[in-house]
Amino acid sequence: MTERRRRRKQSGRRLCGTVLLLCVFLQMLAGPVPARAESEADGTENAERSPLRIAVASDLHLDPDNTDKSQGTEVVYNMELVDALLWDAKQQGAEMILLTGDLVNGGKPQRHEALAEKLRKAEREGLPVYVLPGNHDLAPVGQTEFASYYEDFGYAEACSRDPVSLSYCVIRDGLMLLMMDTAGYSLGAIDLPGAAARGSNEPFFSEQTLQWAEGCLRDAREKGLPVLAAGHYNLLPEISRQPGSGYCIENGDRFTELLRAYHVPLYLSGHMHTRGVYQEEGLTEILTEYLLGYPTGYSLLDLSGSTLRYTPRRVDVDAWASATGQDDAVLKNFTDWQQEGLYNYSVSNISYMSERNPITEEEKNNAVGFFYTVMNAFWSGTLSEQRARIEAMPGYEPFFRCAEGYAYGWWLKELIRTASPLLKGFTLEIGNPAA
Ligand SMILES: [Fe+2]
Repeated sequence: MTERRRRRKQSGRRLCGTVLLLCVFLQMLAGPVPARAESEADGTENAERSPLRIAVASDLHLDPDNTDKSQGTEVVYNMELVDALLWDAKQQGAEMILLTGDLVNGGKPQRHEALAEKLRKAEREGLPVYVLPGNHDLAPVGQTEFASYYEDFGYAEACSRDPVSLSYCVIRDGLMLLMMDTAGYSLGAIDLPGAAARGSNEPFFSEQTLQWAEGCLRDAREKGLPVLAAGHYNLLPEISRQPGSGYCIENGDRFTELLRAYHVPLYLSGHMHTRGVYQEEGLTEILTEYLLGYPTGYSLLDLSGSTLRYTPRRVDVDAWASATGQDDAVLKNFTDWQQEGLYNYSVSNISYMSERNPITEEEKNNAVGFFYTVMNAFWSGTLSEQRARIEAMPGYEPFFRCAEGYAYGWWLKELIRTASPLLKGFTLEIGNPAA
């Protein structure tokens, strides 16, 4: 394969993988994010809580059948990256890890078996795991089978399970984890006794599930426990509130109101394959990114007293590879490899777009530098503070001329316009629902 064809193929693959992200960004970046969430609770009883570190990862898309390393993308390292994630979370002192859905890339039994084996090892090594289903996790595996694969990762420990969905709640470390099944998977996988027949596979919360969730929240209030809620699909991004968009959870607005009514400070989600923070009327939503793309990140939550600190983190694949004696050259130098991949991605995109919107070679170089800088700044959480410098770059004007008519043009403008300092990390009052 020639270098040009290889790049085009790589670009096509990555562009394809980016379509979801692009479409979603167009909508999700529409709303401004206030500087700090507010809580009506004072957190008095929580002042004595021991510090607790929770890791949150999402969209692992594990697929043991897709490991052909010649493809040269993060996706083919899916098996290793899950190992590296679990290792890194443990190294970081996480006392548990939440996996917010799309655990595997299509609900085949052998994929769940492969993941469950890795999770069992993590638990043996002292990292409890709690999982949720995403839209890629069921069919052919049904709901009942899913709960049995992950019996040790939430379902057996649950203090309550919703009888009509895969939602459950767990009480531990002075905290309630309200783990919500947002569905969105094939109708054929819905096999729990009592689950109502559905006409579409759009994500939803049923009436019974909302009632069950309110029962859990009432219980938490009576016990004076703060609640962290999690689900695969999102609640606060603009597109998630547009019925028919494919991103909107039916009754998601009612669940959001329920969270606010019980002063739940945080909802954790994934699905969009990008990092995001939304705050609205006392509720914060953190979107954790796709594991199999730049920057192979996850979220760390540090609870201490009445506060919660969010910090995004990159999996240190290089350190994991060294600690576990990996032979693969990419894994041993993953950070550099991924950085080079990001640069190649920038080159490919400019090259592709300039075929329709020609710019000079010098302008191309500048446009590549601009695109690469924006991507780096976004993922490092510094885009908002670098905004002025980025807008003054020589590649700014040629990039947008070259990107005319492509989603990238709109997307980068919105990224720069709406960049939030919260993407670098922030502290939140988590309060006390009993107050
Ligand atoms: Fe998903």
